[in-house]
Amino acid sequence: MAGEPYYITTPIYYVNDVPHIGHAYTTLACDTLARFMRLDGREVFFLTGTDEHGQKVEQAAKAAGVAPQDMADRNSERFRALACDMGYTNDDFIRTTEERHARAVQHLWRELAERGEIYLGKYAGWYSVRDEAFFAEKELIKGPNGKLLAPTGTGAEVEWVEEPSYFFQLSAWGDRLLAFYDANPDFIAPDSRRNEVVSFVRGGLQDLSISRTTFTWGVPVPGDPAHVMYVWIDALTNYLTAVGYPDRENKTFSKFWPANLHLVGKDILRFHAVYWPAFLMGAGLAPPKRIFAHGWWTIEGQKISKSLGNAIDPYELVEKYGRDQMRYFLLREVPFGNDGDFSRAAMVQRVNGDLANGIGNLAQRTLTLIQKNCGAAVPDPGAMIDDDRALIEGAAGLLPGLCDHMSRQEFHKALQVILAVVGEADSYIDANAPWALGKTDPARMATVLYVLAETIRNVAIVLQPFTPDAAAKILDQLAVATDSRAFANLGEKGALVPGTSLPAPRGVFPRLEAEPAV
Ligand code: MSP
Repeated sequence: MAGEPYYITTPIYYVNDVPHIGHAYTTLACDTLARFMRLDGREVFFLTGTDEHGQKVEQAAKAAGVAPQDMADRNSERFRALACDMGYTNDDFIRTTEERHARAVQHLWRELAERGEIYLGKYAGWYSVRDEAFFAEKELIKGPNGKLLAPTGTGAEVEWVEEPSYFFQLSAWGDRLLAFYDANPDFIAPDSRRNEVVSFVRGGLQDLSISRTTFTWGVPVPGDPAHVMYVWIDALTNYLTAVGYPDRENKTFSKFWPANLHLVGKDILRFHAVYWPAFLMGAGLAPPKRIFAHGWWTIEGQKISKSLGNAIDPYELVEKYGRDQMRYFLLREVPFGNDGDFSRAAMVQRVNGDLANGIGNLAQRTLTLIQKNCGAAVPDPGAMIDDDRALIEGAAGLLPGLCDHMSRQEFHKALQVILAVVGEADSYIDANAPWALGKTDPARMATVLYVLAETIRNVAIVLQPFTPDAAAKILDQLAVATDSRAFANLGEKGALVPGTSLPAPRGVFPRLEAEPAV
């Protein structure tokens, strides 16, 4: 796969509100994959951005007494700053109010219209502004006070909408979508979500309303500006805009489309796995290769909502626990795809157990011993025995398994296999007790410490996508040059050179203090 382009996207975030930890999570997962693929030698395009049109943003702006564009400008900037402050490595940040995007989405509309996929009619049905989604009556849930609610878990009330509307002929796409899912078994993940989508499509699709006339905050429909486009056709098209659509001959477009992965939350899977491939195929474009729907986080058992205040502010959490610690916890704590609960107790336990007592302690012990007993330089190993080789090879040979896990977005499993090597290195250091060898067998001590240092180097290289700051600190302490940190340097090719002088060691994962849950 090395050298192959890799295009990965986050959903674009609504600008009716400021970012919270749920948003940071989606982008974090993409960032980890983007970093992994770059280190694996692939040419990566990693996209994030903001979704700025639609009724929800218009209503929020009205309630705040500001123009929608002003609200969009202000909050989009918060999402951009978050990506920067979290150290996310996105290659572009798209806003749907940009001129390049209006051009793309209007072009897509025209392509669909020319192919007979769009007709003018009248919508009469239920709509949830919070979800920006239409629902059939049979899907709705009755709330405690008899009010009808969207079935999405947002608890949003639906409202009855009746207005002239353009429709996309989604009803004609059912069989083609099912055939597409069949031919592309990896298109929707995890499997449980795939089954939900397939049964939704099997249940029969209604034509989809794709324009609105009762408000104006959107991209005008070409040739009929009394209509603005439905925010989801507008939003989904961002994935095309960023790689240069409508210019299909464009080098970026031909290199990166179709996208390798749209990573989304479970709440927005239907838009990505049903509507989006139908729009694309309807316009003669290839659908993306894969859609992965991750789960939702709660905080100390509670749904994320504004009333949780600081508990959901990514800045506060990072300040309290550290950027790498947050990344590690979110990616390791639950199998990616499942829901998770963020609790302070779980966070402290995970970080202390796996990071402070695990890789942090291993690196610190090894580097301190080298500093004291080997003249602060990479030790010169003698002949290796089977146990030595097994440890180094276990670390150097992690990559194929990791590639497998990452191609399925199994972050937790990738981290488990890396941490298993750390566990083996801990057993090795205890069994070989290099601190005692200094006096009895200095040559063997040098070999043992070299084996440990080389194991740590390999582990730190593969940890870079997950805990980039700490991995970089470990590699700095091993004097590994910044251009020798890609996966191609795993194993013998990049092996530490005996005699290289090393800086004084310093801890990379301080222990977190246990604290009472709130
Ligand atoms: N604007 C649409 C997406 C358009 S993509 C073409 C949207 N925006 S959103 O801001 O409401 O949500 C963006 C992402 O944040 C979704 O993937 C959603 O699942 C995720 N999360 C929002 N709250 C979350 C949690 N509590 N936990 C995990 N992720 C959550 O939908």
